[in-house]
Amino acid sequence: MINIAILGFGKVGSGVAEVISRGYNLICKEIQDSIQIKYILDLRDFPGSPYQDLIVHDIKTILEDPEVKIVCETMGGTKPAFEYSMACLRAGKSVVTSNKEVVANFGNLLCDAARDNGVRYLYEASVGGGIPVIRPIKNALAANEIYEINGILNGTTNYILTEMDKKGKSFDDALAQAQALGYAERDPRADINGDDACRKICILAALAFGTLVAPSMVNCIGIRDITQTDVSIAKKFGGAVKLVGSTKRMPDGTIDIRVTPCLVPPYNPMVKVDDVYNAIMVRAASLGDVMFYGQGAGSLPTGSAVLSDIMDIAKHLKTKQPTQETWESSDSGVVCDAETTPTSYYAAVNLTPDELTPYIEDIEVLHTEDGLTAFIAHGISHKSFEFALAAAGAQVFSKLRAL
Ligand code: HSE
Repeated sequence: MINIAILGFGKVGSGVAEVISRGYNLICKEIQDSIQIKYILDLRDFPGSPYQDLIVHDIKTILEDPEVKIVCETMGGTKPAFEYSMACLRAGKSVVTSNKEVVANFGNLLCDAARDNGVRYLYEASVGGGIPVIRPIKNALAANEIYEINGILNGTTNYILTEMDKKGKSFDDALAQAQALGYAERDPRADINGDDACRKICILAALAFGTLVAPSMVNCIGIRDITQTDVSIAKKFGGAVKLVGSTKRMPDGTIDIRVTPCLVPPYNPMVKVDDVYNAIMVRAASLGDVMFYGQGAGSLPTGSAVLSDIMDIAKHLKTKQPTQETWESSDSGVVCDAETTPTSYYAAVNLTPDELTPYIEDIEVLHTEDGLTAFIAHGISHKSFEFALAAAGAQVFSKLRAL
């Protein structure tokens, strides 16, 4: 019998319990053992819930019970989630988490603690909700150098942008709906301002490049300023506006890492990623491009990702296999300057392509009609792009980073 404890019985924690209940026989068959939730730590009591007898309020109960081998941290926030996770690892318990804020800020320390204590720290559910992406990057792509990752990493903002695009909804109505569906963070500003996507791209960059960039060092812009004009101009030529997290290793060894709204052109598969779905596109040396796609938020999809980690640990409990990974922590020189580093930018302006080309060399025209040119400029920094548009005397209707 494998005993587990759940820390935090909110959307994800209760999703974990439901996924265990729904898939019990399948899970036991796969891990060749039985599994039970022995404790659920929460501030609340849940009277009438089938889980009410498992509720405890003191982490010590879990820490001091040698029967609990796996702890599932689904609390959200860093306090006390980080401290509790550390205490569990030091008590010789493996920890699995969906908590991207903890992994993005302290993943290096937690992996070190897991290794030092001969246990594991796994975090599949911290990126992409239910999409298996962490384990495939770690295992299946292990023979590949990773060059670049671009992802639609936040279900709430993707849902809002899709509703604005497909149904012409206002930003606030679409947000209220995403909250009602349980996709949004407790404080939805973390979704809207890009913080949630930022934490996720930091985790992906750590996997790809071995350096955990602090979220505070990332150029991060949310979707608050996206208007119906941005969305409807993109729609004219089959493009879409998406919040995208990107990271890339630069030739000088620095890391380009950003989260911004992006124009996704019609030929990029991410243009079709709608609603609460997420997609993570990895560019790897031998494999080329690979895209992971699925539901990026929600109780059961995320619960299912947590279960994949629990089952991985459960299968190897006898042989242990402690966490091996180490992440360097970032210093200020690691991240390149987003203002001056060349990437791709998009604008819709009142000038013709011929009027633009004296100012911007490499342009890809996406759409023209009377008084409107929509184009992407490749290999240009934000600073130079702004300068060129001003020098050309363009009236700008929409301006975004481009994929
Ligand atoms: N608020 C997050 C999102 C939840 O909308 O993607 C999943 O991490």
